[in-house]
Amino acid sequence: MGKTVLVIGGGGREHAIVDAISRSPQVEKIYCAPGNAGIALQAECVAIKDTDVEALKAFAVEKGVDLTVVGPEVSLAAGVADAFRAAGLRIYGPGKAAATIEASKDFAKALMAKYNVPTAAYRTFDKYEEALEYVKKGSFPVVLKYDGLAAGKGVVIPETLEEADATLKDMLLDDCFGHGKVVVEEFLTGPEFSFMCFVNGKEVYPMELSQDHKRAYEGDKGPNTGGMGAYSPLPFITPADYEEAMEKVMKPVAAAMVAEGCPFTGTLYGGLMKTADGVKVIEFNCRFGDPETEVVLPRLESDIYDVFSAIADGTAMPELKWSEKATMGFVMASKGYPGSYEKGFAIKGLDTLPEGVRVFHMGTKSAADGFVTAGGRVLMVVASGKDLKEAHDKALAAVESIECENLFYRRDIGWRVM
Ligand code: AMP
Ligand code: GLY
Repeated sequence: MGKTVLVIGGGGREHAIVDAISRSPQVEKIYCAPGNAGIALQAECVAIKDTDVEALKAFAVEKGVDLTVVGPEVSLAAGVADAFRAAGLRIYGPGKAAATIEASKDFAKALMAKYNVPTAAYRTFDKYEEALEYVKKGSFPVVLKYDGLAAGKGVVIPETLEEADATLKDMLLDDCFGHGKVVVEEFLTGPEFSFMCFVNGKEVYPMELSQDHKRAYEGDKGPNTGGMGAYSPLPFITPADYEEAMEKVMKPVAAAMVAEGCPFTGTLYGGLMKTADGVKVIEFNCRFGDPETEVVLPRLESDIYDVFSAIADGTAMPELKWSEKATMGFVMASKGYPGSYEKGFAIKGLDTLPEGVRVFHMGTKSAADGFVTAGGRVLMVVASGKDLKEAHDKALAAVESIECENLFYRRDIGWRVM
């Protein structure tokens, strides 16, 4: 009998995961909780919140789900993987303890310091006065990271002491993000890249590299966002850089998590930077990146059900085969994002996109005659091509053919390699 899979989450990343699973000949039925209007084209969406661990577990039991795949960090931090495993249910994703590598910047920094994993120099503070004293003695820009999940908004890079002071007040006195600590970090420069690996304990199986574009506007200007576009592969990462990332970062960190008694299982995401002094870690995530997943998984030719199963069960990993083709994706976001924005604008032109173009829904809703906008990031349009230039031109042409009066996008995705 065909397999039944449950995917937890409801954004572009989960749409890409559902899309990859739908290519598995073994899989007969895909559920997605809560999913979204676009995911509903490829899976049955169920109205369960991604942090409602008990309801998710009950659903998996009721439907005889063979394997659950977790998208968002909030679900992992809520302990969904622990709860499923304790109930004898197969699940792809780390438990709460291992998810701390993303949930706590301080934990991640201390782990890297202890195991000599290259990263920016840092100090952690929970007192505003001490943090301010330290920042006064250092140089600018300085990197301030709130120690906790802050939906991508927990990192501020002040250029001046006044700005740094205001941020430290927000983070430590006014508790705008919660009550916690701040990591003060040295500012590094160089191109960033995303290295996602399938990890099971000490076993590390690399995915193809990708690069996100975090700033809202062209020329890498404007506020940080959840990501405005991505592409894969990365021609500026040499085989030596790759080797360094694997041997000095990804493998040692997986081994360190085992040594610390919180072995990692699932997708370990290294947010890395190629600096003049070598590859350094900017951050770790305990899950697939968004929007990186939308350009990486379309390149996976192996049966992803077998890949997820091997990690979930701790059995032999099948060979990972990747397409030689390049992929590039443009995010279409609501005007005003990442600030406030309006919703409910009709989106036209999604049915007439050319071969080789995929649309992943990030924030849409179904309406009487199609889809309407329903989030900050709305769609990600991904094309593949023989090289990045071809993928870029195809994806951009597709984006331009989509009509919606309240969407904007960056035309310069992939500028570094064009
Ligand atoms: P994070 O949430 O840790 O990924 O930080 C968000 C963004 O802030 C990163 O993608 C970088 O562009 C930037 N950033 C974080 N840490 C540093 C650093 N130490 N030096 C320079 N930029 C950084
Ligand atoms: N693209 C960055 C992230 O997923 O956190």
